[in-house]
Amino acid sequence: MRFTCNNWNPIKSWRPVKKVGLMVHAKITGTGSAVPDKVLTNNDIEKLVDTSDEWIITRTGIKQRHIAAEGEYTSTFATRAAENALQMAGVKPDELDLIVLATVTPDFPFPATACLVQNNLRASKAAAFDISAACSGFLYGLAMVEKFIRTGAARKALVIGAEVLSRIVDWTDRNTCCLFGDGAGAVVVEASEDEKGILSTHIHSDGSYWDLLYQPGTGNRNPAVRKTLDEKLIYINMQGNEVFKLAVRAMEEAALEALAANNLSGSDINIFIPHQANRRIIDAIGKRLGLNGEQVFVNLERYGNTSSASIPLALDEANRSGKIKDDDIILFDAFGGGLTWSSALVRW
Ligand code: UT7
Repeated sequence: MRFTCNNWNPIKSWRPVKKVGLMVHAKITGTGSAVPDKVLTNNDIEKLVDTSDEWIITRTGIKQRHIAAEGEYTSTFATRAAENALQMAGVKPDELDLIVLATVTPDFPFPATACLVQNNLRASKAAAFDISAACSGFLYGLAMVEKFIRTGAARKALVIGAEVLSRIVDWTDRNTCCLFGDGAGAVVVEASEDEKGILSTHIHSDGSYWDLLYQPGTGNRNPAVRKTLDEKLIYINMQGNEVFKLAVRAMEEAALEALAANNLSGSDINIFIPHQANRRIIDAIGKRLGLNGEQVFVNLERYGNTSSASIPLALDEANRSGKIKDDDIILFDAFGGGLTWSSALVRW
């Protein structure tokens, strides 16, 4: 396989003035999403653990979540979301150079779920791999693909965030079982000479907090043996309150970093699309950035926290509902296990 940048002109490239003219931008040309049909409401969760619809809505903003049925996997939703994004972009699967899929719930430890999606799509020319950055995964993927495109190493790429978190949720633990949902979102990113597109991306990690939010079992520290199952190590383990406080601080920092990098302020943002984990986190950041309700896109009441899928799922919904206009400035902001946090600024 050989990546080439068709715009690259060896005769002009050494002339500084012409080099500016050859600047390649990475532009989102299509969005897509997919969620399972099955819906689990807060009332359904009241039947599983000692909780209430009122507690879940007040503390999180979540009213329902979509849950994968038997026979549905991360690759199922990733493929559907990708097909929708490709259709909107008018890009055929065999034109793709790259498929980057962010997930913490892959179909298998290996091969990468991205390879299963590549096969489903028949995207025969695309290199495909997964990345693991939990809820920041989609923006990590977008940052990576932006660099591939800006350097001319790829022309057309898919970035997907996809999760089936319901299979690593302990449905007897009220601290976590009401929070998460399943689904996928995807974007097509293409090389473009149009100055619109991804303006900047910013990614950060702090591994010293790795054990605040993690899945203790099924990796090689606690392999998938009976003890791992008996001790419930296969499930999400989260110190919610600590994560909450760090999320607000890190997401504010990442958002301000993206604005500063582009000499913009909160009032320049048309749409703020944050990771959808908790309504109170989103409101706190919106307030710190001086945003009004109209600027902030929220859909977590219907999907819960879908980790790496949450931002592309929200983006697709905002896009298809006509909320995003040509030339709009969109700020993305995420936070997740790792700990990881990230932001991106896009001119639509
Ligand atoms: O996506 C990656 C990043 N993840 C996040 O950003 C999640 C961040 N964390 C959160 O969203 C919130 O911390 C939670 C929603 C997880 C929890 O809300 P909280 O306001 O931080 O509650 P808490 O953990 O401090 O718990 C308060 C009380 C506890 O009872 P006691 O110990 O005070 O008696 C919990 O046992 O609420 C109790 N509680 C519940 N009560 C009813 C916890 N979960 C539930 C529940 N229903 N589902």
